[in-house]
Amino acid sequence: MKNRVVLAYSGGLDTSVAIGWLSRDLNADVIAVAADVGQGGEDMEVIRKRALSCGAVESVVLDLKNEFADEYCLPALKANALYMDRYPVVSSLSRPLISKHLVTEAQRFNANVVAHGCTGKGNDQVRFEVSIAALDPSLKIIAPVRDSGMTRDKAISFATENNLPIEVNKKSPYSIDQNVWGRAIETGFLEDIWNAPIEDIYSYTAAPNTNNAPDEVLFSFQNGTPVAIDGKTVSMLEAITLLNARAGAHGIGRIDMVEDRLVGIKSREVYEAPGAIALITAHQELSNVTMERELARFKRQVDQRWTELVYDGLWFAPLRRSLDAFIENAEQGVTGDIRMMLHGGRATVTGRRSEESLYSFELATYDTGDQFDQSMAKGFIEIFGLTTKLAALRDRKFRNGK
Ligand code: ARG
Repeated sequence: MKNRVVLAYSGGLDTSVAIGWLSRDLNADVIAVAADVGQGGEDMEVIRKRALSCGAVESVVLDLKNEFADEYCLPALKANALYMDRYPVVSSLSRPLISKHLVTEAQRFNANVVAHGCTGKGNDQVRFEVSIAALDPSLKIIAPVRDSGMTRDKAISFATENNLPIEVNKKSPYSIDQNVWGRAIETGFLEDIWNAPIEDIYSYTAAPNTNNAPDEVLFSFQNGTPVAIDGKTVSMLEAITLLNARAGAHGIGRIDMVEDRLVGIKSREVYEAPGAIALITAHQELSNVTMERELARFKRQVDQRWTELVYDGLWFAPLRRSLDAFIENAEQGVTGDIRMMLHGGRATVTGRRSEESLYSFELATYDTGDQFDQSMAKGFIEIFGLTTKLAALRDRKFRNGK
């Protein structure tokens, strides 16, 4: 029987070649599925037609921008998701969503195989395959670049020999993945970790310039969700898009780091995520004002665990659902406004206000109106420090204080 393969199609060289490659090697009908997760660039209709010219029997384009923003970026914002304290898990968020739709399309077209264009060295292969297996374990998964020797050189000769409508020389020296939450740039000269990034690699951000006039933004959140920017109601997608433009114009959200991949490799990654960084910065500060201390401390650990789980490709794991339930509950009351200054590569919070604020002027002030009874502090410290004091006395007696 002829195989039917659903291929995660980007429109680029590798996945375009994969259409012909899979048809030949697997004796398969290939159904190309391209997902719009806000990556911008080429027109999705051009991409859809290209798959057909490359030999796909069906070609589908899915507009997943709102679903991506609402169901993936928003939970990441609520979790203040920054892997290794810096990377806003841009690619890690899109893979499970794309996988979900690959599975739906596979079921709709009666396909028995799902294919993706990842190499064997990255995290994305893990994210795709774990997600697909979780959603439909009966599907076979193949990755031609990794599993069937489709190297770059072979891909280029295949494209030329078969007259595929793709410009093989136009392939950039970098591996780039982008969506509305941000953009990742890897490989090429960046693999020498002493090399500084050059201006050319950026596209979501302008070079930070302190001579530009600052831009002030007012964020309004309701239970952790951004609901308005400068008083105007926005959807999550609109909030991200707007902030990508405004924070991007000030060079905010550029990240250059060496990252621990799940597969064990340390890799150099450059990211730009202006909207994500501005939103997370605002959300973190509003949480500082509205979230009770013990909950906030515990939530930081939950946030980190959530982020590592999602980075590692375990979006569909039961633990993520349970952590999300905790986070959702913790976010009740993260409501109010944040004022932020965008300038010279920095997003700086300059004001916060909230009806659910736990900040009490009367308790915090050092001026008149102080209602904090300082006389109670003495006894509190005495008892709070008691166990440390007892242990220190004991250690002085038996071990010279060590
Ligand atoms: N290292 C990042 C991650 O694992 C970015 C991956 C980008 N993917 C790509 N195919 N260039 O999430």
